[in-house]
Amino acid sequence: MIDDTPPDDIPSTPDDDAEAVRREAGEAESSRASRSWWDRNADEYQLEHGEFLGDARFTWCPEGLDEADARLLGDPSALRGARVLEIGAGAAQCSRWLADQGALPVALDLSYRMLQHARRIDEQLDRVTPPLVQADATVLPFADGSFDLACSAYGAVPFAADTARLMREVHRVLKPGSRWVFSVTHPIRWAFPDEPGVEGLTATASYFDRTPYVEQDETGRAVYVEHHRTLGDRVRELAAAGFRLVDLVEPEWPEGLDSEWGGWSPLRGRHIPGTAIFVCVRD
Ligand SMILES: C[S@@+](CC[C@H](N)C(=O)[O-])C[C@H]1O[C@@H](n2cnc3c(N)ncnc32)[C@H](O)[C@@H]1O
Repeated sequence: MIDDTPPDDIPSTPDDDAEAVRREAGEAESSRASRSWWDRNADEYQLEHGEFLGDARFTWCPEGLDEADARLLGDPSALRGARVLEIGAGAAQCSRWLADQGALPVALDLSYRMLQHARRIDEQLDRVTPPLVQADATVLPFADGSFDLACSAYGAVPFAADTARLMREVHRVLKPGSRWVFSVTHPIRWAFPDEPGVEGLTATASYFDRTPYVEQDETGRAVYVEHHRTLGDRVRELAAAGFRLVDLVEPEWPEGLDSEWGGWSPLRGRHIPGTAIFVCVRD
């Protein structure tokens, strides 16, 4: 299912030269920007974070909360034989962990290069690669009721313009009673500079301003986009799509974790939440 043609819309502007602005960015522009940004940055992402992520570990966030401990996906024995959709899977580390529990994962991502990393890891480990699907999470290429569970660790949700549609799509492909569990940057972080040091502890923007964060090239074309929803927005989107929110997990920074991940650091982790994990059940 992987589109083997290399993306032809990779902007020539290096990311360092991009200009950061706040402006509207629709679905098509956001999707195009995300696909080419993650294609360009997949190698660096895996090099920088691959060790922390592990090849077959399911970690929800830079705070290092592991599914093996947190059990947010529900009864571990129910994973055996379950058809699981991982959204924004990157190099499919979580899908590998799920397969080790006896589940039948499908790893979906927008980025061809990210999925190539999934293949690379499986080749290195001499493992069978789970089905890899290159697609946008807002237009899922699956029949209604195809999955028993859906999950996402920081994949797709922060980058999609129309997350109400994404939630409806996930609802459509799940069977009734299934869980949908996803982690995102905690919405409160939107108000703070994305810096790991003390400058990241002073609110400089409005939590209520939903205008997207956009990095654009010299022609004004978006090369990276992030979309913000307040906690209330997320709850309303989930309810409107037909999900029941059963938990909202805000992992605390654990004692002894010294590593930083972009704007996530022990210093900031002691003061403000960095991750929100929504645990939902499809009606
Ligand atoms: C921060 S990475 C997380 C990857 C992986 N879950 C992990 O924990 O390493 C975000 C991933 O979401 C993917 N992504 C971004 N927008 C997407 C979309 N609209 N549909 C599907 N995947 C998307 C990116 O290609 C990238 O692999």
